[in-house]
Amino acid sequence: MEKQLNCYFDHSATTPLDLAISEWIKRTQGEIYGNPSSSHAVGRKAKNILELARKQMAEVLGCHSKEIIFTGSGTEANNSVLHSLLFQEKKHVVTSAIEHPAILSTLQHLEPLGLSYSIAGVDSRGKVNLSEIEKLIQTDTGLITIMTANNEVGTIQPISECSDLAKAHNIPFHSDAVQALGKISIQILLEQVDLMSFSAHKFYGPKGVGCLYKKENTNLHSFVYGGGQESNLRGGTENIIGIGAMALAAQLAVEQIKETTDHIKVLEYQFITGIKTIRDDIVFHGNSKSHIPGLISFAAPGMDNQKLLTLLDRENIFVSSGSACHSGLSTPSKILEAMDISESLNLSTIRVSFGKHNTDKEVQYFLSVLKKIWMG
Ligand SMILES: Cc1ncc(COP(=O)(O)O)c(C=O)c1O
Repeated sequence: MEKQLNCYFDHSATTPLDLAISEWIKRTQGEIYGNPSSSHAVGRKAKNILELARKQMAEVLGCHSKEIIFTGSGTEANNSVLHSLLFQEKKHVVTSAIEHPAILSTLQHLEPLGLSYSIAGVDSRGKVNLSEIEKLIQTDTGLITIMTANNEVGTIQPISECSDLAKAHNIPFHSDAVQALGKISIQILLEQVDLMSFSAHKFYGPKGVGCLYKKENTNLHSFVYGGGQESNLRGGTENIIGIGAMALAAQLAVEQIKETTDHIKVLEYQFITGIKTIRDDIVFHGNSKSHIPGLISFAAPGMDNQKLLTLLDRENIFVSSGSACHSGLSTPSKILEAMDISESLNLSTIRVSFGKHNTDKEVQYFLSVLKKIWMG
């Protein structure tokens, strides 16, 4: 009997570890155990891994090693940028309605501590409204933060225009690029921002490690206090193996970007053309002209997304939805709400995100299962 396929199509949630990275981790973790702050040889070995990783990460991003701060996640990188505002004179932030909770929820939590913020809307394809951003700027605006690419619908934001706007008003600009590394070219974007967040587990690296790019002379206040690590900007003994693995994964992701995105775009095309032959009422969300390759967000009208997720799960097909399910009741995705997608389509939406290991055969299997679910 043919082995049942295991179809992981949720790479925007997280990616599996690249084989080369897991082998590096296995080889290194027994050997490198020192504290990089220790001055003896064991500590120095760990410090070497840390500083090599910083150099590699800087090369990948096209910046200086001094501009890299290692963090415990993409969420932490975003938090550190926003917390920093509390220590500045200008405490107002302009952001967009479709940011990840690592931005929007953090802003909510910091509001009682003195930070204020304004949220710019997006169009029906999930693109930020630049003129609204400009209108929301106040005399005390100390930061504009707009994500590079959206995690639910994949829309790539006009980072260069946002950056021009921020520069014209002399406001630091941060972008959450957690969904972007390895999928779109980062170096050009990095030149346009003052701060940028990344997370290893989105590009086939390990979970629980991220980094923040901080352009030289950009103001940033320490977020985690302690032993003065990361140039006093992030206390705590560094996750040496995680950081080393992240830098290698970033290198690999950028080296393979063309090969990976070409492959993923073929799968995406096969899936979209295939699904259209099964049903002609599928509604695709986002901006097909400027989106993260391989991320497809679509609604199957009349189909409850949580039910679809469960049926697919039973067939070993793993996708996700933006809406949350609490006690059997679905709450609509905030991102689709911000894009003015109707509640019924919102609750019928699922997100498929292909990765480099997915195959043509898996996509065909996925289509055959969808056909079976919809047509019986
Ligand atoms: C756009 C975006 N920002 C931030 C995060 C959070 O990153 P991490 O999982 O490393 O905390 C995610 C994760 O899904 C994301 O998609």
